[in-house]
Amino acid sequence: MHAVSATARWTAAARAKESRRDDAIFTDDLAEELAGEEGAILFARYDNPGVGEFIAIRTRYLDDLISVRSDLTQVVLLAAGLDTRSVRLPWPPETVLYEIDQADLLDDKDKRLAELGARHGCVRRPVGADLTGAWSEALREAGWDPSAPTLWVVEGLLFYIPEPDARVLLRRVAEVSAPGSVLAGDLLSHQSMISEFSREGLRRLIEDGCPWLFGTDEPEEFLSGCGWRVTELKTPGEDGASYDRWPWNPPLPRDVMGFPRNFLFVAEKA
Ligand SMILES: C[S@@+](CC[C@H](N)C(=O)[O-])C[C@H]1O[C@@H](n2cnc3c(N)ncnc32)[C@H](O)[C@@H]1O
Repeated sequence: MHAVSATARWTAAARAKESRRDDAIFTDDLAEELAGEEGAILFARYDNPGVGEFIAIRTRYLDDLISVRSDLTQVVLLAAGLDTRSVRLPWPPETVLYEIDQADLLDDKDKRLAELGARHGCVRRPVGADLTGAWSEALREAGWDPSAPTLWVVEGLLFYIPEPDARVLLRRVAEVSAPGSVLAGDLLSHQSMISEFSREGLRRLIEDGCPWLFGTDEPEEFLSGCGWRVTELKTPGEDGASYDRWPWNPPLPRDVMGFPRNFLFVAEKA
């Protein structure tokens, strides 16, 4: 398995932790099993103030967006990891959900989901492919329809691939998207790559073979250069991306530099 695929167990462990709270902002009943002991160890290893909270906020933010855009019944999760939205969310039954990730991770996930008796509320189609390679061909072969608008979700991926690959990926997504398609996901700031507050976490990720490689302080420009016009951009803690989870309120204004930062975005094909 690729080293970076272990990070899917980390984020699943974060969803498990949120799900155990009395005031959970979503419930992922499969997360604990999917994360396993390895996920719990990684969650402790990468724990930093705000990390678990951000993953919970990101999950809920994208859950809400998917619900609001339920008119888009073709959905692709780019780097789905151990995501269980196919089970958790109330989908229009005609929805087809494609999950792209490394083939070995998805094979393992399928096996575990079957063992756990997971019941999907939509048609779920796993697509094993490298997102820095010829993924769109594999997606088409799985039945994805390029003539229909797609809701693309890129969650927890873009900082694990080099900037040129991230650009090629999102440009390709725009090229193959029908009008009306939407892209939602998250980005890290460039400050997150260099800030002293991230140093220890970054060192551990490098040690584990899954370094963060790309962040930008100009997410709107980055996305527009890839063919996507941002319609919403939030940092955690802002109205619409808070859910009473963010530890620091009010959130730092965008123009305060020197601190790591996460961005949540929604964009439409330019
Ligand atoms: C932090 S996890 C996020 C998973 C999921 N979206 C979530 O939020 O839980 C990063 C995921 O990116 C996947 N990934 C990283 N590089 C990839 C690549 N080049 N092709 C396909 N998947 C990749 C890993 O396998 C892993 O599942």
